[in-house]
Amino acid sequence: MTPVSDVPVRYQLIRKDTLSGARLGRVTTPNGAFDTPAFMPVGTQGTIKGLLPDHVAATGSQCILANTYHLMLRPGEKTVAALGDLHRFMAWPGPILTDSGGFQVFSLADINKVTDEMVVFKSHIDGAMVELTPKRSIHVQNDLGADIIMAFDECPPGDAPWEVQRRAVDRTLRWAEKCKVAHQRPTEQGLFGIVQGGVNEDLRGECAQKLIEMDFPGYAVGGLAVGEGFDAMKKVLGFVTPMLPENKPRYLMGVGFPRDIVTAVLTGIDMFDCTIPTRNGRNAYAFTAAGAIRIRNSRFTKDTGPIEEGCDCYACRTFTRGAIRHYFFAGEMLGPMLVSLHNIRFYQRLMADLRQSLADGTFTRFVENDPRCRLGPAA
Ligand code: GUN
Ligand code: ZN
Repeated sequence: MTPVSDVPVRYQLIRKDTLSGARLGRVTTPNGAFDTPAFMPVGTQGTIKGLLPDHVAATGSQCILANTYHLMLRPGEKTVAALGDLHRFMAWPGPILTDSGGFQVFSLADINKVTDEMVVFKSHIDGAMVELTPKRSIHVQNDLGADIIMAFDECPPGDAPWEVQRRAVDRTLRWAEKCKVAHQRPTEQGLFGIVQGGVNEDLRGECAQKLIEMDFPGYAVGGLAVGEGFDAMKKVLGFVTPMLPENKPRYLMGVGFPRDIVTAVLTGIDMFDCTIPTRNGRNAYAFTAAGAIRIRNSRFTKDTGPIEEGCDCYACRTFTRGAIRHYFFAGEMLGPMLVSLHNIRFYQRLMADLRQSLADGTFTRFVENDPRCRLGPAA
């Protein structure tokens, strides 16, 4: 058994909701702690697009995410390591999580071949053939130096048949074992296992159970928000989240809209990441409690109000909707920057309010009454 003091990532359960699986907690890492339920903004290429680290911190973000897939191709993990590590590279001294490349290779890459050993794909940078194995993914993540690193997994599309999900679970389990063995910095970086299995409870249950036997310091639920739909995701989470150890963090990967996050928190999920606030922000879609607004809409041309009335973010304290709309039409960088900033703050204020309601014992009432908790794709 690893002595507790050698485990780099630990979960402290602070309070459990009495009416749901929701929990208030805190995750401690070698570079600081973060409060859960937590939302992690995505810095795919080693930067949260358009935002200075100080601005990201000002949104209340405590942990951020970066991608193995992108950084191994450019600038390369050895270059990041030569420049210090990912914390120095991103100028983010706090907790960082890297995804393994498992999802990105299956969703973004020009795949040449998938075997039980590896995924071979064509680099979008220079066209070279690249092999990604569980061992390589972990070694890249060891060089990048994030606080939380992820096992290399296979994530099939949401509509993939049972047989495909079966094979993906087998590979994900075999690869998880290989990742554990390959991990060279187990006292400095916490390696999380990822549960796959699509919408199949038999496969999800088996995958979760076998990963739990491998004793990871945290567990992720992957393979959701890949086209299965909201009701299917809710059902899978209701089944799988309660299976995961109570004394370890639980992370739902790549999710989602506020409604999805709240639904997952109700089942006991602690951590989230998603590109939605930043990607939508770059496209001039701003989140408000009353629903998303499109800042490019002509009705905002002479609008002197902030993106969202009452928002405490820098964009809302400083700029009018009319000015931000102009920046988008003029192709000015400030437009995407300001709406990304606002959207991340919107997400972080919701997370803080969810945590406060858990601390107060008013969580279920909050979820039922706050309109932000119902915001989904159409909103
Ligand atoms: N990001 C979103 N979904 C997934 C997943 O299933 N696996 C990994 N590695 N990353 C993800
Ligand atoms: Zn704002």
